[in-house]
Amino acid sequence: MQQLKLMIILASTRPERAGEPIAHWVLDSARDRDDVDVTFVDLKELALPLLDEPAHPRLRRYEHEHTKQWSKLVDAAEAFIFVMPEYNHGYTAPLKNALDYLHHEWVGKPVGFASYGGVAAGTRAVQLLKPVLTCLGMTPLTTAVAVPMVGERVRDGRFESSPELDEALGMMLDELLPKYAAAMRPLRAAS
Ligand SMILES: Cc1cc2nc3c(=O)[nH]c(=O)nc-3n(C[C@H](O)[C@H](O)[C@H](O)COP(=O)(O)O)c2cc1C
Repeated sequence: MQQLKLMIILASTRPERAGEPIAHWVLDSARDRDDVDVTFVDLKELALPLLDEPAHPRLRRYEHEHTKQWSKLVDAAEAFIFVMPEYNHGYTAPLKNALDYLHHEWVGKPVGFASYGGVAAGTRAVQLLKPVLTCLGMTPLTTAVAVPMVGERVRDGRFESSPELDEALGMMLDELLPKYAAAMRPLRAAS
């Protein structure tokens, strides 16, 4: 079986973030599958500076080593899951910055979301991110994981899932990998 290359991106960078245990839950579930080759990117560790390339990313004329490395990583991925909190009803600045660095590397690839927050479970941030992603030629999925009241589910650095959340994650992985990521391969090859 040809494996699909999935990149899981953790979009929160704060100390003691809830995102880390949630990202590991997503990562473990993805790694249990045999149809996927998973890469994990923690934006805190990636530590991209605020966008510092002089040329528009569409030109792919990168000056900095950190951009060249980031470009190579994203180029290799065929699908993404963003593990993302909601800050002030929006997405995080490090996520937007990481997206803005590149262009062609994102095009023609699907994205699933594992969002979290309070009562809205990060869904407002996801909705705001969708136009950004479509501008980059990406396809955001509707099937998603949304964790409400995250403070009640993350304790001492551990995430407590539920059967419903596990099922939602499984459904999203099924949609993202065998369906969207595979179906979009010819589209990317043609562009
Ligand atoms: C700057 C900031 C803004 C926040 N704004 C929201 C918000 O608009 N909606 C929400 O549901 N939770 C909000 N929260 C609460 C977060 O959902 C909660 O702190 C969560 O743990 C943040 O993810 P992180 O720990 O991975 O950074 C906010 C938290 C921070 C730090």
